[in-house]
Amino acid sequence: MTAIDRITARRVWDSRGRPTVEVDVTLENGVLGRAIAPAGASRGTREAVDLRDGGGHLRGQNVQSALDNVNGPIAAALRGHDASDQRAADDAILALDPSPLKETLGGNATVATSLAVLHAAAADAPRPLWQHVAETTGTTPSLPLPEIQIFGGGAHAGRRVDIQDFMIMVPGASCFDEVMEITSAVYFAAGDILKSKGKLAGVADEGGWWPMFDSNEEALETLMRAIEIAGETPGKRVVISLDIAASEFGGAGCYRLALENRQLDSDGMIEMLGGWLEAYPIASIEDPLAEDDVPGAIEFTRRFGDRVQIIGDDYLVTNADLVREAQVAGACNAVLIKVNQAGTVSESLETFHAARAEGWGAIVSARSGETEDVSISHLATGLGAGQLKVGSFTRSERMIKWNECLRIQDA
Ligand code: PGA
Ligand code: ZN
Repeated sequence: MTAIDRITARRVWDSRGRPTVEVDVTLENGVLGRAIAPAGASRGTREAVDLRDGGGHLRGQNVQSALDNVNGPIAAALRGHDASDQRAADDAILALDPSPLKETLGGNATVATSLAVLHAAAADAPRPLWQHVAETTGTTPSLPLPEIQIFGGGAHAGRRVDIQDFMIMVPGASCFDEVMEITSAVYFAAGDILKSKGKLAGVADEGGWWPMFDSNEEALETLMRAIEIAGETPGKRVVISLDIAASEFGGAGCYRLALENRQLDSDGMIEMLGGWLEAYPIASIEDPLAEDDVPGAIEFTRRFGDRVQIIGDDYLVTNADLVREAQVAGACNAVLIKVNQAGTVSESLETFHAARAEGWGAIVSARSGETEDVSISHLATGLGAGQLKVGSFTRSERMIKWNECLRIQDA
């Protein structure tokens, strides 16, 4: 065992130019672990809350109070703890903040600390993080299948398109390298189509194209065309994946599709999405209904759960209890794993195991506000989660995660 000697937090900046929390955990033997908190924009109401200072300075986004919480109470509580006992370290953090959403310490303070402890333990072993995760959780490591955004919409692109993520997956590729090649071809083909039609507004929050479509379905048609131009047959090696992020435009059984100027009830949403599942090779769909529309999620899963992956993100917020409730109710068949939604590594692992215990899928995911932190590439690989969602195929805060998988592949 090597004890934690020092914990220090510093302010760094994320991909949206906003302040965030970086934590250094130094062990007694000088070994260092470091991690940075990401930040969401389309957040579930029950996820751990980031502590922001508010007020006028830095548009209220500063994180000084979160930094103070790491440098003060968290550092004091963890000093002397065995870095390799992640559960005990996380429990010590949780004991400082019994609030359900970690409002006291801030989820940004807890997640950066918890991940930095994990990094320190791996470095102390010494072994790569993915290997450390596999060996300490008893999982079989494997490189994940990427889920990569081609068009960004919703809260990530000025709400020009209602649906948040139009993505592809390449389950038919023979290796990770080939996934990258095919994705690159589809990404640029999609951009060419938008440019030629005068429908390109720019680049969205996660690096995908920011389109000016006339309907949500135009995005699907354009994605199909891009896959074909890339030399692929949609539904063969390349399939489509959607994050509807329905809580962003719906709730209480009422959905407002601004782009198409129409309003749907829960059944109407299910019919519309069911029609898309018929017409397009969609293999995965995230948050098809709003987080408070549990009857809708149950009905959607009853009708389509045997042929498509249905992921709970805003609905399940990486919470093991919510996953178990959804399993009993028959809502969804997969969960997104975002460590900062839970707030600690241990709680995220509990959610992962709860998913796996019932044969659910688990997709490790980044946030829309990201940094150079590559923890999730290692977590996805070490857990053998099977899938990794990072955003698009441009911008270094995204590419560093894909590139890290390539390095792990060579290890
Ligand atoms: P967020 O969204 O990181 O902006 O909350 C990502 C997602 O919905 O998957
Ligand atoms: Zn989502």
